[in-house]
Amino acid sequence: MANALNNDGDPGRLVLGVESSCDETAAAVVEDGRRALSSVVASQVRDHAPFGGVVPELASRRHLEAVAPVIRAALAGAGVTLGQISGLAVTQGPGLIGSLLVGLSAAKALAWARDLPIVGVSHLEGHIAALRLMDDPPAPPFAALLVSGGHTSIYHVHDFGQMEELGQTVDDAAGEAYDKVAKLYGLGYPGGVIIDRLAAGGDPSAIQLPRPRLRDGTLDFSFSGLKSAVVRFRQEHIGQNYRIEDLCAGFQEAVVEVLTSKTIAAAKQRGLTRLALAGGVAANQRLRQAMAQAAAAAGMELTAPPVALCTDNAAMIAAAGAIRLRAGLRLALEADAVSRLPRGGRLPGEA
Ligand code: KG4
Ligand code: ZN
Repeated sequence: MANALNNDGDPGRLVLGVESSCDETAAAVVEDGRRALSSVVASQVRDHAPFGGVVPELASRRHLEAVAPVIRAALAGAGVTLGQISGLAVTQGPGLIGSLLVGLSAAKALAWARDLPIVGVSHLEGHIAALRLMDDPPAPPFAALLVSGGHTSIYHVHDFGQMEELGQTVDDAAGEAYDKVAKLYGLGYPGGVIIDRLAAGGDPSAIQLPRPRLRDGTLDFSFSGLKSAVVRFRQEHIGQNYRIEDLCAGFQEAVVEVLTSKTIAAAKQRGLTRLALAGGVAANQRLRQAMAQAAAAAGMELTAPPVALCTDNAAMIAAAGAIRLRAGLRLALEADAVSRLPRGGRLPGEA
């Protein structure tokens, strides 16, 4: 009876979100798509650090161990039982297939056992929905820069749940470039936050690196050339003295300048006056500072979410899921996970 009530009532009222696309097992309970009652993230950073990057099979195994306890902790943290949940939201892709399958299977099992409505969520849509969990979310329409380890895109967000991609990277993601440069210099994993810290003590103009596609007139990015420029710089300066802090600052400045300038250009093209940052790289201190300055100079308003909402979490998946649940979308229990988002962004097995 209780479940019939859940299905007939508002399925977005109390959503349990599950995320396992990469190296974080996460679960969260979100009320009304806007208020995170709990958000539990079990990071695998320590498991992958010795390898300098995510080892997919290891990630799947860790997810398998963590998924049930993490879901249990999210329910306990929110002070609710599974019987009170109105709907489920789970990351269906993009991401590592073996990792995605763990969260997807767990969420499907709960939906089936409890007869709960379930939706699959795009991880990217989740990163944008994270903004909705802020006390003072940006009002759509706005331009959003989504920068993570796997993606670098600019969106015109017409409304939450309705985003149009204006440009994206043609090769590496910004976070991937950070991680590869950190690996090259043996700085540790994950590289983004380490380079961010080192760069703060460096001179960004001491080592000049290229700004790929800065003035190509498109809203697309390319970061593999910048990474190659760092590889060349390192080879050409073997045995020579330079500060790693300066190299980090020079690299970061190149990344940040391209990201900032293209985001402002996108907003101008679309006549948008509000900007937002999302994704793991949005935690970067220099990016936040440079975007704030550029936005102010252009007379635009910038929203930069707190770091916990930038990096991977399941509250963002539940927030995006609430919108989809309320729109009446449902995930078939036969639905597959997707490593890459199909063109048009439609997820498989959705009705
Ligand atoms: O969104 P996220 O947690 O996972 C993906 O969807 O990829 O982003 C992870 C990425 C990694 O590449 C990491 O190095 C980067 O975000 N990152 C940072 C910072 N914190 C995390 N990059 C630059 N500066 C940071 N402070
Ligand atoms: Zn992410």
